[in-house]
Amino acid sequence: MNASSSAVLGAPATSAPASALLATRDLTVSYGAKEALHPTSLSFRKGEVTAFIGPSGCGKSTLLRCLNLMNREVVGCTMGGRILYRGRDILAPDVNVYELRTSIGMVFQQPTPFRLSIAANVAFGPRHHGLAASREADLVERALRRAALWDEVKDDLKKSALALSGGQQQRLCIARALAMEPEVLLLDEPCSALDPISTFAIEETIRDIAASGVCVIIVTHNMEQAGRVSDRCAFFYLGTMVESGPTLELFNAPRTQRLSDYLTGRFG
Ligand SMILES: Nc1ncnc2c1ncn2[C@@H]1O[C@H](COP(=O)(O)OP(=O)(O)O)[C@@H](O)[C@H]1O
Ligand SMILES: [Mg+2]
Repeated sequence: MNASSSAVLGAPATSAPASALLATRDLTVSYGAKEALHPTSLSFRKGEVTAFIGPSGCGKSTLLRCLNLMNREVVGCTMGGRILYRGRDILAPDVNVYELRTSIGMVFQQPTPFRLSIAANVAFGPRHHGLAASREADLVERALRRAALWDEVKDDLKKSALALSGGQQQRLCIARALAMEPEVLLLDEPCSALDPISTFAIEETIRDIAASGVCVIIVTHNMEQAGRVSDRCAFFYLGTMVESGPTLELFNAPRTQRLSDYLTGRFG
């Protein structure tokens, strides 16, 4: 464990599967009195892509937003159970959410570039964490390469990020998240606003990021996308995690009628 993560995690260690970097244990989420996510236990490993699938409104984003405590920003939202990151419960009150989010990055459905240059977008987080100016160019290049955007923007680093196409903006947001060297990357329907070619580029990028050892969790309602990018899937319906497992197993031999119906397009 490095110094920054031990600073994040003041709570005592609790049991978790040795191989899991991140895990939920009977995690629940309510908005006001309504429980939107029923008790959910899932484990996430380094180097793997997990997809959350299921029809709109089933709780995918709600769960994803727990994993870096983004739900703390939602008025009336409460979480129960445990979320173990490196074996420690991040729902403990002494966890510093800002530090946590440097280790667990997030990319949203709509690209959210800052009104800054391409380079300044990527360097934004590291600058706030005291990155030396002399190291900035290297870091920007590395993050843009990992997000498969470098070749397209290397001559325009000072150009406004808002001048990029939607697909490029989304890869820039991925680069911005990667610049913090997160261990976990959360992506909430990152391709839903994009054309097929940009979507394919981002899917390739997601596989490469996982191959570099990052734990990737993606929300998608696109089954083909889940099939292409994910190692494991969790299927949700009306706030319940119905089944989870290796993607090929789930797709080829669903254990529940509900998933079987979803896969054959009977609802969704
Ligand atoms: N900020 C919020 N306030 C109140 N209810 C919400 C909020 N966000 C989501 N919900 C409700 O929680 C349920 C799950 O939503 P969500 O997690 O967005 O589903 P999904 O991402 O699978 O489409 C839905 O019933 C939705 O209306
Ligand atoms: Mg959603």
